[in-house]
Amino acid sequence: MKFFIDTANLDQIREANELGILDGVTTNPSLMAKEGIKGEQAIFQHYKTICELVDGDVSAEVISTDYKGILDEAQKLADIHPNIVVKVPMIKDGVKAIKWLSENGIKTNCTLVFSAGQAILCAKAGATYVSPFIGRIDDSGWDGVQLIEQVKHIYTVQGFETKVLAASIRNPNHIIRCAEAGADVCTCPLDSIMGLLKHPLTDIGLAKFLEDAKKTV
Ligand code: E4P
Repeated sequence: MKFFIDTANLDQIREANELGILDGVTTNPSLMAKEGIKGEQAIFQHYKTICELVDGDVSAEVISTDYKGILDEAQKLADIHPNIVVKVPMIKDGVKAIKWLSENGIKTNCTLVFSAGQAILCAKAGATYVSPFIGRIDDSGWDGVQLIEQVKHIYTVQGFETKVLAASIRNPNHIIRCAEAGADVCTCPLDSIMGLLKHPLTDIGLAKFLEDAKKTV
């Protein structure tokens, strides 16, 4: 399973990258706004900086919701860097745009996916990635990881090539369960990635080893 970081924060991207386990980055308009990035030129420059930091796919989201607008934006985003993956919402014009983009060599990530039916449409349109939002599904009282299992099963049975990118991760356990469910990629906040490191017995064990090591010098 690949690890992407779900942020537009450059310090967090650097920190995850320095750990040596980072395969890519996902962003969205809310994450860009959180970093105070404003205006097309600043946004494009920010994507370029991220692409230069990380050797892997970087999802950049369109804000148009009509077919032509999505295609125009997608082409501008794709021109920023070869690693840009254009993130397109799961709406009717989005599906049409994904079809065109996939036929014309532009990688896509279909976002805001909450059902298996939507995931089937993504794959039929030829999306590179499908992004089920598991945390938001959990928040609404359902089990997001079950959707990852279901979509992965459908794609395997049907031979769809779209990669399952588990998004809206809230905690380390989500990452573990997505790995079990066969997600191809998990895009996570930094604290969820770092949470995988932690175990109290590791800390207790290390303290004891270091204490005992003093007796050996
Ligand atoms: C996916 O690519 C989205 O950016 C993201 O995972 C959404 O997560 P949230 O539900 O925490 O906003």
